[in-house]
Amino acid sequence: MRDLENAASILRKSARTMIFTGAGISVESGIPPFRGNGGLWEKVDPSFIEINTFLRHPEESWAKIRELFYDHWGQAEPNPAHYALAELQKAGKAGLLVTQNIDCLHQRAGSVNVAEFHGTLEYLICLKCGMRLKAEKDLTDQPVCPACSGLLKPDVVFFGEGLPEEATDLAFEEVKHVDAVIVVGTSGEVMPACLIPRYAKRNGAQIIEINLDPSAFTREGISDLFLQGKAGGILPELVKKVLEEEGSDI
Ligand code: OAD
Repeated sequence: MRDLENAASILRKSARTMIFTGAGISVESGIPPFRGNGGLWEKVDPSFIEINTFLRHPEESWAKIRELFYDHWGQAEPNPAHYALAELQKAGKAGLLVTQNIDCLHQRAGSVNVAEFHGTLEYLICLKCGMRLKAEKDLTDQPVCPACSGLLKPDVVFFGEGLPEEATDLAFEEVKHVDAVIVVGTSGEVMPACLIPRYAKRNGAQIIEINLDPSAFTREGISDLFLQGKAGGILPELVKKVLEEEGSDI
């Protein structure tokens, strides 16, 4: 496949590559995407993770959070796409990985340099004293702060909340310096995350996109190369090519 060769060539030549992922990369791990056919928002009303609804009805919201995020998603394991990206980072051929996902599968696959744009399910935050705690089962079963009895909330960005400053600052600084961005499994419709590939492109980076279907980035001509298909199939092949033939383009 010519595009795969071209993508590998861009990545071999790039001195600074960033990775940007969305829900699609975890679909092959059994986690549904948010939009489109079979998307979560088709089946579930998202108001349980809307901050005012959560504060008004914490028990009802927590019942859904527990069932969906901790019981169901909690079973998910990283897939070959997560492992391939971790390998690329370990080989020094990619730097910062910005993810919109809250499932922690990148870190579990071995990625270290990860900016979680929408937070993480791995931790809970006390809305009263601000304490951050590992999301152990006893706490997700009884989401009450052991220090002050305040209400605990997953440390993820709910609708109506601001984004974590550290991750967003890091990501928006990095887009000024990168030569290439690998964009994986995101519809490119959610602000401000969707600005990342756009700003990188504006600063001269080449955008390589992997998605089952065209996204906003494909449609708007942001992607220089579009590799259509499942991330779990394409990424291991792409990374193998980049690492096997390193140095052959000089
Ligand atoms: P979406 O659900 O909007 O998009 C998922 C994308 O993954 C789509 O473009 C699919 O075509 C693609 N896809 C599905 N399966 C794939 C596969 N096996 N391989 C490659 N691509 C595949 O998810 P996001 O763009 O991540 O925010 O959504 C962004 C944000 O919207 C989420 O972080 C979440 C949601 O509201 C918050 O929770 C704050």
